[in-house]
Amino acid sequence: METIKILSIETSCDETAAAVVENGRRVLSNVIYSQIPIHQKFGGVVPEVASRNHVEKISQVVDQALEESQTKFEDLDGIAVTYGPGLVGALLVGVSYAKALSYALKKPLIPVNHIEGHICANFIEYPDLEPPFVALVVSGGHTHLVHVKDYGQYDILGKTRDDAVGEAFDKVARSLGLGYPGGPLIDKLAQEGQEDAIDFPRVYLEKDSLDFSFSGIKSAVLNYLNQEKQKGRTIVDQHVAASFQKSVVEVLANKALKACQMMGTKKLVLAGGVAANSGLRRELAGKDLELYYPSLSLCTDNAAMIGCAAYYDYQNAAFGGLDLNAVSSLKLGEKKFTIVK
Ligand code: KG4
Ligand code: ZN
Repeated sequence: METIKILSIETSCDETAAAVVENGRRVLSNVIYSQIPIHQKFGGVVPEVASRNHVEKISQVVDQALEESQTKFEDLDGIAVTYGPGLVGALLVGVSYAKALSYALKKPLIPVNHIEGHICANFIEYPDLEPPFVALVVSGGHTHLVHVKDYGQYDILGKTRDDAVGEAFDKVARSLGLGYPGGPLIDKLAQEGQEDAIDFPRVYLEKDSLDFSFSGIKSAVLNYLNQEKQKGRTIVDQHVAASFQKSVVEVLANKALKACQMMGTKKLVLAGGVAANSGLRRELAGKDLELYYPSLSLCTDNAAMIGCAAYYDYQNAAFGGLDLNAVSSLKLGEKKFTIVK
């Protein structure tokens, strides 16, 4: 088999990342510079600050990815980059850098969808995993149930109608006075609380719907906190975290199971930052499913997953031109660039 080496770049949010991936599933390097400590003092990602930090770090991160993988520019077969969805200014840093490299090195430019990257993180973790399967994509910006029919072929079965699940975790964390990002902090706190202490709502929407809604549960937590404060009662943060998490993961798990039943598969793949949640993993482990999820470092944003997704696009020669632009609201399965041959 011919060896295909791809340099991939990811700057869609608050991680400046670059990786070198061979044949889609062999990660030779995976460098992540996280801006989380910078944004922590603002309680969330500040887009302008993110863009500036990507500009400052990108060369260093790319050089390190090449060095750690002992790869020279001339050994590369392509340059992959996340072009959406994400923060437009942040995405543009990676896109511009990748375009410059592609032009200077005369190597194909491979535009990658960030959500597709999250799903592909599982191909790295499980070298034998093949479509078809159902993917539950749960991140700071997305909550989707997807039927992955084949490599690069997606049917969206359901999605959130309001907040993404990671956003709900982050907002509830903020209302409890925890730091940013809130998901891992809620997860940790929940381990010390009782998940049946407070009866927060489970929102299932219409019968058989695979869509989600998380704005109600977020408001329910805020109302609970306000009411308890007004009544002068002590709030047990651990119970709030555990009960909130339980109500969210129960809905996610039940809908994911239903999606698998509807598609006639037992294979469920988790993707995105919230796939790191221990409550969600536990809830799903109790279901009659064949469960796949990436290790923690491949759940959150990284460039190796982008290099994996790019490999399948490389094989279809889905290359972008120098007119490639960032598309902040790019949908899964959508290609918003001119394909050059
Ligand atoms: O996939 P990701 O790194 O970035 C996006 O593409 O959005 O996801 C980040 C989200 C944040 O909302 C963060 O709070 C959440 O993933 N997250 C978690 C956990 N780890 C990260 N949520 C719940 N439990 C966790 N252990
Ligand atoms: Zn992400």
